[in-house]
Amino acid sequence: MSDQRVQIFDTTLRDGEQAPGASMTISEKLRIAHQLARLKVDIIEAGFPISSPGQFEAVQRIAQEVDGPVVAALARTTDKDIDAAGEALLTGSNTRIHTFVATSDIHLAAKFGDDRYGRTMAEKRDNILKMTDRSVRQARAITPNVEFSAEDAGRTETDFLVQVIDVAIEAGATTINIPDTTGYCVPREYSKLFTDVLSRCRRAHDIVLSTHCHDDLGLAVANSLAAVLAGARQIECTINGIGERAGNASLEEVVMALNVRRQHFGAATGIHTPLLTETSRMVSIATGFAVPPNKAIVGGNAFSHEAGIHQHGVLRSRETYEIMRAEDVGQHAESIRLGRHSGRHGLFSRLDKIGVFVPEERKGEVYRQFVRLADRKKEIFDEDLVNLVQEVKGRSSADHYRLDHLHVASGTGRLPRAEVLVHHVSTDSTTRVTADGDGPVDAIYKAIDQATGSHHDLISYGIRSMGEGADAVGEVTVLIGENGALFRGVARNIDVLKASAQAYVKALNQLAAFRIGRLNTEFVSDGIMQSFEGDAV
Ligand code: KIV
Ligand code: ZN
Repeated sequence: MSDQRVQIFDTTLRDGEQAPGASMTISEKLRIAHQLARLKVDIIEAGFPISSPGQFEAVQRIAQEVDGPVVAALARTTDKDIDAAGEALLTGSNTRIHTFVATSDIHLAAKFGDDRYGRTMAEKRDNILKMTDRSVRQARAITPNVEFSAEDAGRTETDFLVQVIDVAIEAGATTINIPDTTGYCVPREYSKLFTDVLSRCRRAHDIVLSTHCHDDLGLAVANSLAAVLAGARQIECTINGIGERAGNASLEEVVMALNVRRQHFGAATGIHTPLLTETSRMVSIATGFAVPPNKAIVGGNAFSHEAGIHQHGVLRSRETYEIMRAEDVGQHAESIRLGRHSGRHGLFSRLDKIGVFVPEERKGEVYRQFVRLADRKKEIFDEDLVNLVQEVKGRSSADHYRLDHLHVASGTGRLPRAEVLVHHVSTDSTTRVTADGDGPVDAIYKAIDQATGSHHDLISYGIRSMGEGADAVGEVTVLIGENGALFRGVARNIDVLKASAQAYVKALNQLAAFRIGRLNTEFVSDGIMQSFEGDAV
């Protein structure tokens, strides 16, 4: 018997972008969408058009300009959401509307608590069935390709889930998604949902059943694979597993598990796996989310062998410790080292080879920074190059504030003091501030707060080393918040105080962009699904 074809539905640009601080520009999204097409994903979920003008435009341009995959747009079960999705997809030739509504009692009580959705749970459920029917029919009038998701299906009572899915199929849905929205399920439970739906829903064999797993318990990939064994034929996932909270199932992991254990699963995807690492880097650069070195498939250490006994074994026969070949996932086993004698051509052809795109106008700056780094560091590895491009990108995309100068004085017996010079892009003015703090980072952040006049909460600050030795690059991740919305900044530098300041300014730039975007009242709010209620029927 031949293998079952499993479709890969990539939601990096929608659910992935919902990760706090992961927002991407429209041109970054377009570049990633083109790369996803080269990777041969079957469906690209390009965004949630009603949520913001930026999301609308991204979906519109991806539908219009990217050939190959189906382009999907997300919509709640409201008229205006579905119309916005239809309008954004209008010029595309191969499109899908993906509509969703919550089905678990917990979600119904919280989001549909208002009496207009029904006073009892039975009445609320009845309303959900009507909303499902109406929205799928409305979407079907726009496109023949309609997906319906029962949000929080993982915690939905099975009898009701079966009812909702029957209604969605009857109304014309061609794909039914059963999301584990909160990452609560364990594999046996999650696969049973698929078995139950396949045996109890009247026409479940006429449509494609889909998985959508979140990683709150670290089980997103395991749950997705369990669902495939139970009959799922579409996996929703993201590059590097980015997404809401702990993220989504990672595309590279589910794809390689199906490839490497093909006999076990009897299923295959159409993914061109040698592009996995390149795509992972591209997403990492666009989002500012570093890929941990030990990340399966695309991490820097995924194919390195440190222990002598492992190195010896691999040299004799790769199979002793490797279950797949580095080149099959686009990892270059040999790491070509660059140094101060490497020229411009060597640098950009290396960046090209590892999938890091540098726009023409930034090449000069990237090369200047490379020469400066090469003066300080004997050997420059791929990881350093990714960091360097990231840093230049952060500096040139500072749309509100730019840190022009930083000086920190600290030592025994004195209060740490920081001096900053912050450039305000919109007014083309600069502010110089000096502040004392409990530690050098505290002093820097106090000075930047005064210079920008921003009031917000500092939610977390983290620092880690990106390599070995005292000259290793340090990566700082800062999370700031305002009224429940979170903004993330990541920066890397050999000088960790500089990285701390740069990460903070990046987060502030995001917050400033959010404050401006929020003034647009036509859209849901900020691109993140904060309002969930649908139209009562
Ligand atoms: O996690 C979830 O339930 C979702 C839906 C919108 C499919 O992302
Ligand atoms: Zn999700």
